[in-house]
Amino acid sequence: MKHVLVIGSGIAGLSCAINCAQKGMQVTMVSPFPSERAQSVLAAGGINAVTASCEAGDSVDSHIDDTLKGGCDIAGKEAVRGLCESAPDIIDWLKKNGTVFTTDADGNVSKRAFGGQSYRRSCFCGASTGKQIVTALVMEARGFEGTGRIKRRLWADFYSALIKDGECFGAVLYNESTRKPEAITADCVVIATGGQNALFGKTTGSTQCDGYVAGKLLTQGVELKNLEFIQYHPTTIETAQKRMLISEAVRGEGGRLYIEENGRRVYFMEDKYGERGNLMPRDIVSRCIEETGKQVYLDITFLGKEKILQKLPEVYELCKKYRGIDITKESIPVTPSVHFFMGGIAVKNNHETNIKNLYAIGECASIYHGANRLGGNSLLAAIYGGKVAANSIEQAESSDTPNDWSKELKEAEEKLRSLKGSKSPYPVKYIRDMLAETMQEDLGIVRDADKLQKGIDDVSFYLSVADKIRFDSSEMAYFGYSLKDILTLAKATLLCALSRKESRGAHYRSDCPEPSDAYKAATIIRYDNGEFTTYLDTEGKYEN
Ligand code: FUM
Repeated sequence: MKHVLVIGSGIAGLSCAINCAQKGMQVTMVSPFPSERAQSVLAAGGINAVTASCEAGDSVDSHIDDTLKGGCDIAGKEAVRGLCESAPDIIDWLKKNGTVFTTDADGNVSKRAFGGQSYRRSCFCGASTGKQIVTALVMEARGFEGTGRIKRRLWADFYSALIKDGECFGAVLYNESTRKPEAITADCVVIATGGQNALFGKTTGSTQCDGYVAGKLLTQGVELKNLEFIQYHPTTIETAQKRMLISEAVRGEGGRLYIEENGRRVYFMEDKYGERGNLMPRDIVSRCIEETGKQVYLDITFLGKEKILQKLPEVYELCKKYRGIDITKESIPVTPSVHFFMGGIAVKNNHETNIKNLYAIGECASIYHGANRLGGNSLLAAIYGGKVAANSIEQAESSDTPNDWSKELKEAEEKLRSLKGSKSPYPVKYIRDMLAETMQEDLGIVRDADKLQKGIDDVSFYLSVADKIRFDSSEMAYFGYSLKDILTLAKATLLCALSRKESRGAHYRSDCPEPSDAYKAATIIRYDNGEFTTYLDTEGKYEN
């Protein structure tokens, strides 16, 4: 029986684990915390699908066109076609698994409008779609856990992949209970560890998603892609710990953005782009907000209390709880903030990386979204990616697994031992905070070569001191060993942004503000012996 090791237990990991189990494979699902604490539960707005109850005129082709257009012509056409064509079946699959979608009076799944979409096609569960899907998939996975087909390994962190001669055979995990590394072999390994929020400090996502796995894999020979494309969500509010998302659903229900000038409201998005101005793709709205140089407000009061409480109850609660704002009576002061990473681990259309039998799915994988993702396509991509990977793994040939990984384990033990010691002059948290400041400042909504070079210099300095890091208590082991690879990922991200000398989607450079056909391809980055190399994938290496 094939054994699949899934690293991560959010929606993408759950989808892959369930699909593999349904196909009779044995799955081990590893994560440092339960699925209910995965970043997926933060996904608010919806999941796109053209179902039978779609708006008149809508079609799968239109969903494909919008996704490709949103991605600014660098998303793979075939991958996007597969994603959009599978969407209606995915909604049925989710319903069968117990996801309770909001429905209309006729019992059809309701749809809301999202940015960059020609029709209302986001299916939703109030404004807690991710949470409802996680709940349903956890229940489904539990059935397989009951029969032992899926085994969960909680309180375990990924340390490294077991790779020999371009093929993956498992992973080294750090066991938080024994505080020791251990090797797990498998026929295939699937990475489903989310985006890299912690690089930026406060974002709408979970800071538990820190990009360590992508950074580590980069140093192990795995290629990364399109790291420069970082989505700033236009409407978030600041809280002490993080940025809270004010779902695009608010603008989908008619919410209007404005600034105040001389005592009157200026609806700047509508002035520039007409009636649908508030629902332009996120990169455009975020840039326009930044250009105002002013506090921007989002008004939904005109919808009336009854409709607001019926359609946006979670947004109402969130604003009340975190900012004391009653959105039925007051506008919400909003700011753009890092929300989603279009870039990540480079994968082919079957979600396999450049290393045989190593797959990546969900936000950590770069596929489908090109230079900018449409709202409502991430949950879809996470579920679809899990399914595609499971199908491919079922067909994959696995080689005999080498059974001696003592060298790799010894290296991990040695690394962990070397990190212990007296307090270092640079605490991990201090460097992580400095990194977040650098990334927010130098890799913001508007970039230029000088800022990016400054960011690279700063991160190179943090990297040079990272070797001096020591930690006192063994609970800090993860933070200690992950730091260098997180910094490596940060540097790779800045290098990708510097190498793309044009503006496209979420990557806007004031020193080269136009798109250029010369860059109409994905950026790939690899790392060999301490050297980074970037190239444009003009040959479609990752499209098959
Ligand atoms: O605004 C939102 O609800 C976000 C949705 C998404 O990123 O897909």
